[in-house]
Amino acid sequence: MKLYSNPASPFARKVRIIVRELNLTGMVDEVNVDTRNLPDEVRRLNPLGKIPVLVLNDGSTIIDSPVICEYLNELGGGKFFPGMSIWREVSGRWRALTLQALGDGICDAAVARTYETRRPAEQQSPAQLEKYSKAITSALEVLEHASFAPHITIGEITVACAMGYLDFRLPQLSWRESHPKLRDWYEKFAQYSSMKDTWPAALN
Ligand code: BEZ
Repeated sequence: MKLYSNPASPFARKVRIIVRELNLTGMVDEVNVDTRNLPDEVRRLNPLGKIPVLVLNDGSTIIDSPVICEYLNELGGGKFFPGMSIWREVSGRWRALTLQALGDGICDAAVARTYETRRPAEQQSPAQLEKYSKAITSALEVLEHASFAPHITIGEITVACAMGYLDFRLPQLSWRESHPKLRDWYEKFAQYSSMKDTWPAALN
């Protein structure tokens, strides 16, 4: 299988963590692409022009990190997506998926903010920057009071990738000082070798 990825992308990082946790590295060829100048090959595979993209050995294509992660979880017999149930605090499927949505939402806002600040200063929108910052700080506030599972689910992986991306691209946010519970949880989670092995980096 081929995974189109980028070492800075928190969305691709979720997939790369699952690959490592499920010992699928020998089956998945990670190909780094420049997201600012996306190859036509990737645009053909994903009409939305986004990574990550997973191409299976038969040529089928899976897009979007939650979908790719769930596919790999099934393929590798993982337990990162809890089974169907009513809402269960800490262990249930809906808590894990809601946590994933929150983590992905932080990443959406943080990536959009990063791209906005790369525009010439006179073209940047203070209102958009404020909107992204507000989404990030409000979500962090919820996470400070969240219940994290003692086992890893896609929810915990996604939140950890979001925190890693904030450290990488928005270190000035200094989220640790005002979120001590989240900080303590993250410092432990960041010790997994799959986390250390996928620390965000710029492509060039
Ligand atoms: C970044 O450089 O911050 C980035 C690259 C790819 C996807 C998302 C973010």
